[in-house]
Amino acid sequence: MLRCDTFPAVNHKKRIAVIPGDGIGKEVIPQAVKAIEAANAPVELSYFDWGADRYLADGVTVPPDGFAMLARDFDAILAGAFGDHRVPSNVHAREILLGMRFKMDLYANVRPVKLLDAALCPLKGVGPKDIDFVVIRENTEGVYGDLGGVFKQGTPDEIATQEDINTRKGVERIIRYAFDYCERHAKLDGSPRRWVLMCDKSNAMTHAGSLWQRTFKEVAREYPQINSEHMYVDALCMQMVRDPRQFEVIVTNNMFGDIITDLAAGLQGGLGVAASGNIHPGKTSMFEPVHGSAPQIAGKNLANPFGAILTAAMMLGHLGLSSEEKRIEAAVLAAVQQKKLTQDVGGSLGTKEAGEWIANRMGHDFTEI
Ligand code: NAD
Ligand code: IPM
Ligand code: MN
Repeated sequence: MLRCDTFPAVNHKKRIAVIPGDGIGKEVIPQAVKAIEAANAPVELSYFDWGADRYLADGVTVPPDGFAMLARDFDAILAGAFGDHRVPSNVHAREILLGMRFKMDLYANVRPVKLLDAALCPLKGVGPKDIDFVVIRENTEGVYGDLGGVFKQGTPDEIATQEDINTRKGVERIIRYAFDYCERHAKLDGSPRRWVLMCDKSNAMTHAGSLWQRTFKEVAREYPQINSEHMYVDALCMQMVRDPRQFEVIVTNNMFGDIITDLAAGLQGGLGVAASGNIHPGKTSMFEPVHGSAPQIAGKNLANPFGAILTAAMMLGHLGLSSEEKRIEAAVLAAVQQKKLTQDVGGSLGTKEAGEWIANRMGHDFTEI
């Protein structure tokens, strides 16, 4: 899998905060934990019940000092998903999930897009060598800042505004992260392609677009060995489906990054298999599958645990535990190749059975993988 920045391996156990959250988060995270345990990763796990049930019981979304506690006491966070019909305002999800991203300043949402097997891809004639790129999504600004308001609510003259925040600092650091990522990745796997593509909508959103365009060009000049490209987000969506081979590193804003990574998940087999990390180099970072709480299938042992398991692997890689990361990835690849799959990707296993197959696989002989 594409790598994010790594911590040097040290001898103490890595402290992981586990927050399964709502819906299928509570089913897929235990499978991710099984994989971490099967890999014998030197970690110490602490569980937190933040989510809809807790909020409905005592009104608490994040306990006072919760984010400071996570940053102080943990090396990383493994989260499931947040969202529950009983909380229509989604306040708990915003405070927990967006709270971690914003208040812990996890500015780089790294979403690898890697096809494990041709059978998972809805495109004809496309195999694993054709889809291997990453989306670097700005994670602390854009329209997610919840700035704006409603005027004359409930009247025919109602006005709603949702501000799109783009700071020079925020735009520059995410673009630089993408170039650094590209450089590091090329070194890791010797990839001959070294492209960073910035995606925006600067033909319509001219003010923010101008800031992104200027900053991208300036930062690109610092990396003469890396090629830079630009695409409008609408054209990018078409190209991702028509010819995903052309991409290596895509950098974009918060909203576009959200949307194109669901499309990209579709290329890999669906939301059930897509992994992600919310990263600030050097700070406690948070890892979560791309999917949500999927209320329609929650509690039925139907959810695909691969996204959460690959997310756990990504987290271990980030913490410097790269052999454990690779063992988990190899076991997931074996599951895909041997069709040990849940229904969403054409198999017949349940969440637990798919997770157990992977954990068992890791206890078996690795040489045959
Ligand atoms: P979703 O990702 O929960 O589901 C979209 C579709 O993908 C559904 O058909 C679902 O069944 C399927 N799906 C998702 N994950 C799957 C898995 N692991 N295995 C098999 N199928 C899977 O998105 P949604 O329906 O738009 O949102 C549901 C709730 O989740 C909402 O409250 C939303 O706000 C929240 N949400 C949370 C996160 C997060 O916590 N990171 C991400 C997205 C959505
Ligand atoms: C994601 C989700 C979130 C987002 C929602 C739940 C706020 O869709 O992590 O992709 O838009 O970032
Ligand atoms: Mn999303």
